[in-house]
Amino acid sequence: MIIRKAPLFRYSDITPKETYVNRRRFLAAALAAPAAVAFGGAKLTNLQKSPLSVDEKPSATNIVFGFNNFYEFGTGKEDPAHNATNFKTTPWAIHVEGEVAKAKTFDLDAIMKLAPLEQRIYRHRCVEGWSIVVPWIGYSLSAMLKQVEPTAKAKYVAFESYWDTKQMPLATPSRAFIQFPYVEGLRLDEAMHPLTMLSVGVYDEVLPNQNGAPVRLTVPWKYGFKSIKSIVKIKLVEKQPPTTWNMANAHEYGFYSNVNPEVDHPRWSQATERRLGELGRRKTLMFNGYDQVASLYTGLDLKKNY
Ligand code: MTE
Repeated sequence: MIIRKAPLFRYSDITPKETYVNRRRFLAAALAAPAAVAFGGAKLTNLQKSPLSVDEKPSATNIVFGFNNFYEFGTGKEDPAHNATNFKTTPWAIHVEGEVAKAKTFDLDAIMKLAPLEQRIYRHRCVEGWSIVVPWIGYSLSAMLKQVEPTAKAKYVAFESYWDTKQMPLATPSRAFIQFPYVEGLRLDEAMHPLTMLSVGVYDEVLPNQNGAPVRLTVPWKYGFKSIKSIVKIKLVEKQPPTTWNMANAHEYGFYSNVNPEVDHPRWSQATERRLGELGRRKTLMFNGYDQVASLYTGLDLKKNY
């Protein structure tokens, strides 16, 4: 995978107008997003409740479906719900390859049936300073990774999103300020943690296109940009793989990207967050409140490894 060094605008250069200068107008627009934009997906049934859920009320559907980051379909929060409507998500497949004994291609049918579908209510914290609570549907990524049998050399997992400028005319560096395809990565132990989820649905329906249809990652203790959408490739690798926002601005976005109120973004504090749909701000919790992942980082300097 060849990715040019990014001469790009910074993440926050693109969004602060909405997020910081005129947050209220922006939020009002998100809340007013017509339900028709987002609803109508096929229903998913026989969902198991998950012990990994947080005991919090899910955010309103018009926020989860109408306020999105998906730069392939535009850089504005309302763009993906409008621009991704005709995105073709069937047929679909994820190729899992690299340092594995049994490289495998999973088509959509295989992805949907790979493990029992669970509904997991996760907190979702964006690096921009807002958060939401989302009832994702899916299963632990480890279920898929175990099937390909990672070799002893596999230390990291690299993820890649679908990219096609015919379907995604806005997905160019000059329009979106990032490189494509969108790529992300995790350490193997992070990827194998039960909380790391492959999501195929939300609430009780298949994922709407703007939320990363047909299958995306959900890593609840990391900032939202780690949760890569519309995945087509997963590669197990020996070395730390490149990640989109780190390539765009290494100074501001590190590989780890753990939610960490003690490590400020270079240009703003990460100590508090605004829960969309609520007034005021609440304290941001270390690892977004997922204490069960703390042991993954024992001995690691989280100020250096931000
Ligand atoms: N995945 C791809 N392929 N492209 C993107 O632009 N944006 C990321 C992440 N995954 C993004 C992506 C960011 S910045 C966030 S906050 C979350 O998706 C948003 O997920 P949501 O719109 O479902 O809330």
